Amino acid sequence: MFETQRKLVKETGRTRTPASDNLMETELGRERYTRSLPMNCPKQCYAMVGLPARGKSYIAHRLARYLNWIGTKSKVFNVGQYRRRLVGVNMTYDYYDPFNTTGAQSRRMVANHVLDTIIEWFKEDADNAVAILDATNTTRDRRDLILERCPPEGIQVMFIESVLDDTFIEERNIREHKLRCPDYQGCDPDDAFNDFSKRIENYKKAYETLCLNLDRELSFIRVSNITQFHINNLIGTVQSKSAYFLMNIRPHTKTTLYLSRHGESQFNELAKIGGDTNLTDNGVRYAKKLGKFLLENNLTDIPVWTSIMKRTIETCSHLPNQNVQRYKCLNEIDAGRCDGLTYKEIEETYPEEFALRDLDKYNYRYPQGESYQDVCCRLEPIIMDLEKQDQVLLICHQAVLRCIVGYFLNLSTDEIPYIKIPLHTVIKITPLAYGCEKEEISFGVESSVTHRDKQTQESIERRLLALDISNGDSSFVGHEEEINGNNEDVVSDRVVMMAS
Ligand code: SIN
Repeated sequence: MFETQRKLVKETGRTRTPASDNLMETELGRERYTRSLPMNCPKQCYAMVGLPARGKSYIAHRLARYLNWIGTKSKVFNVGQYRRRLVGVNMTYDYYDPFNTTGAQSRRMVANHVLDTIIEWFKEDADNAVAILDATNTTRDRRDLILERCPPEGIQVMFIESVLDDTFIEERNIREHKLRCPDYQGCDPDDAFNDFSKRIENYKKAYETLCLNLDRELSFIRVSNITQFHINNLIGTVQSKSAYFLMNIRPHTKTTLYLSRHGESQFNELAKIGGDTNLTDNGVRYAKKLGKFLLENNLTDIPVWTSIMKRTIETCSHLPNQNVQRYKCLNEIDAGRCDGLTYKEIEETYPEEFALRDLDKYNYRYPQGESYQDVCCRLEPIIMDLEKQDQVLLICHQAVLRCIVGYFLNLSTDEIPYIKIPLHTVIKITPLAYGCEKEEISFGVESSVTHRDKQTQESIERRLLALDISNGDSSFVGHEEEINGNNEDVVSDRVVMMAS
């Protein structure tokens, strides 16, 4: 059973999603590894369409973050950045005049260069799935170029147009984002504003919006004033999920999130995973300090969302906030047959499971339990709701918060299961222009450490080999001490967090 797995590790020097090779069926008929989307999803180029300052980059980055989180590798290719590299930063508004032939040729050259880069990107890694071409693409001619270049490379094209008629939001977008871009560094803000406004006027001269009659054959999503959507001829799961996401985001909502695990539980203290135990004395102490923090920071009115487990409910009972909502989908990852065991006990009882989890922790599914990927799936409705809130305090669990932090910080599925979410610490997530900032606040309440570092590839490979030869060859037994040595930081250490 390990043959293909080991070959995989040896050949690539890194782990891949073994489910793609149809591996690892257990006696229970479960799949040990999960995958978010069907295999062989076609490569996609999402080409943004719209005048400057219509929120295209914002939509592109948010969509890429969401797609990455659901396991669809995505990247934004911003044409302005390539133009600055290839042509320069000091292009005034006349460069964008459609009747300026030199400017038009230069802009077409840049567009072709970015398409070359996208095509190369797809060739670099078979997992690369969605390239988001963040450019104006305001003319049919430019969109035809994309349609001429992508489909022959096996890349499906979908257009996403952002239309905005609100001059107040347009001006705010220009002042908040565009005037800070390298094109206007060191410029007088009024001069920069005037130049950028004239640039938009130049684009308007040649703008051809996506149209339900002329563009009937194309796949596109047209977003008008953030609230109205025209969805045309979408193909497949990834395009449909993208439309679903766009219909749920509110571009002008700036969600500030406060995230915390429950106070230390009795199982945390015993280094056991899962269960449904009450808080320890330290856990109660933390919950009370958290309540004080909310009072001191005028956060007693913010909604609190929590799981339905005793340890989170007990933590919330010490908070001054009245608006507490419980969601089953915020429960901790289900460790199935391993629930209630320490990592050491899992390693002794189910060494094969333990090693396979290390091999691909995001996709590994506990016997009769869940994978991180399963958790992300059940969190999707919560993420959509979070996108619409101004402020929320989430009190939940380590694996669940890893998935949520991973989404907001746009971390890869390799990184998500190893994000540090210490007990007795508040994590504050604040939105920036296209991403988020993370801040940690701790109150000096002692707690267990439940983080287990990512194991080295060599150590995992050694363990897999050792397991495979356990019926005969004993030459790997000598590695055992070293293997166990890798787990020394597992769960029982206690630390005192510094008060901030
Ligand atoms: C730019 O040059 O900054 C943008 C080019 C475009 O997408 O039209």
